[in-house]
Amino acid sequence: MAAKDTATRFLGATITPLFKNPIPLHPNPEPPTTPSGTSFLPTSYGPSSLQRPLPKTLVFGVRHHSAPIDVRERLSLSEADLEALHQAITAHPNLLGCAVLNTCNRTEIYTVVTDVSAGLNALVTILSTIKGVDLLPYQPYWFSLLDEDAAHHLLRVTSGLDSLIMGEGQILNQVKDTYQASRQWKTCHPHLERLFQRALQAGKRVRTETGLAKKDISISHAAYERLKQEMPDFLQKRLTLVGGGKMASLLLRALHQALPESNRHRVTLVNRSPLRLKELCDQYGFQGQGWDAVPKLLTQTDVLFVATGAPHVLLEPDDFKHATPMLVMDVSVPRNVDPAVGELPHITLLNTDDLRSQNPLAFSEQQSVMEVAERILDDELTQYRQWLQSQQAGQTIHALRHHMETLRQDYLSDLATEDTRPLDQASRRLVNRLFHNPLVALRNETCPQKLETKLQVLQELFGLTPDDF
Ligand SMILES: NC(=O)c1ccc[n+]([C@@H]2O[C@H](COP(=O)([O-])OP(=O)(O)OC[C@H]3O[C@@H](n4cnc5c(N)ncnc54)[C@H](OP(=O)(O)O)[C@@H]3O)[C@@H](O)[C@H]2O)c1
Repeated sequence: MAAKDTATRFLGATITPLFKNPIPLHPNPEPPTTPSGTSFLPTSYGPSSLQRPLPKTLVFGVRHHSAPIDVRERLSLSEADLEALHQAITAHPNLLGCAVLNTCNRTEIYTVVTDVSAGLNALVTILSTIKGVDLLPYQPYWFSLLDEDAAHHLLRVTSGLDSLIMGEGQILNQVKDTYQASRQWKTCHPHLERLFQRALQAGKRVRTETGLAKKDISISHAAYERLKQEMPDFLQKRLTLVGGGKMASLLLRALHQALPESNRHRVTLVNRSPLRLKELCDQYGFQGQGWDAVPKLLTQTDVLFVATGAPHVLLEPDDFKHATPMLVMDVSVPRNVDPAVGELPHITLLNTDDLRSQNPLAFSEQQSVMEVAERILDDELTQYRQWLQSQQAGQTIHALRHHMETLRQDYLSDLATEDTRPLDQASRRLVNRLFHNPLVALRNETCPQKLETKLQVLQELFGLTPDDF
């Protein structure tokens, strides 16, 4: 179905929820917890009597920890899907915005809801419709997290701690792109806006403060390491790379550094657009070929690396009928090489999930990165929590101001004098002065329970009513 058709269907229509019973939250495989073990949002949102509860942040999706590649590629979103998704969410009354993180490791939809169950149901329904898939059988692969868990998860993801290759750096830009797309679609609810800003800040800090920024960690690097293991004499072998994006470039750079100039003619690059092909060949000194050269190349290559953004299979078993015995590494998600190619006796086929053990960091290095990173994440989460609490306090502050202003105006209107200006100014200054300290105390309160108590006391002492809110 074309994106436009799907979006149009969502726009005017009432979406019938797929599920009659509430869908429970499903923190698969396990909920991330903050080091301190605190859970700020569910408890601090227990609103004081007159306050409206703040809406909740919800993330729903699949990720590589619990969903194998065949599930992830089934739910991966094309440009058209993304357009339909943003439009459907915009049109839905239970979903107050969204930011969609769609990478080879994960498809995650961040949203803001007032009713968690209805929101989750709506997300599942919309995604099922857009992908044309009954999502119920996929339930064991989903995960869904709320508020603090959702926030902590995004911060871990952005810092590369949740990546297939722990510490890889591509994810930071992918999260940045997600945030920018959400702003462009005008679906970036203020809670998402603030959460993504904190997450990007956390990601940058983790990369610089742990030294990850100086390391070469990526799927391409993992593929290169795996190649060295599988074929220790790979410098003497013939290599073909298909794709001219970030993944292919990173591998080209590694090969360029490893191969002496006399061996560079053994590497051939294939890309769809000739311009990009020429750019890369000029930069790294390898030869380039168009797509029509692929059948011939397959009869004279020992290693094939495939990484394109094509959302479908590009090479099928028939294409390898006359191929030389070879190692095929397809890091694309959705995969570009039909998995059935791996059943051919002369082909060894690997995908991204087969590379998860290739982390260049030793276990002890990973542990020390984690320790520093979790402290940074805790710090950034605290700042996000304080911002949310200020939103919570903001309602009562606003109500209090409204209440005082109404009283002040009442008194002024009762005065017999004609010129009320001096009294107006004096009473305004007096009210501001009287409320300065209590308001600062509310804004600075960092403990959710104490804030809740203070808000309730203020509401009771000043006799605030729902009309003030
Ligand atoms: N980025 C990561 O961290 C990462 C990690 C693991 C796996 N992957 C996966 O690796 C693949 C490539 O990622 P990337 O980040 O390198 O992507 P990218 O930078 O967006 O580059 C995409 C490349 O694919 C080519 N391409 C797009 N559609 C195509 C089509 N229909 N037929 C043939 N070629 C097509 C483009 O060719 P033109 O130059 O002609 O446009 C471009 O060279 C993706 O499947 C991605 O999910 C990415």
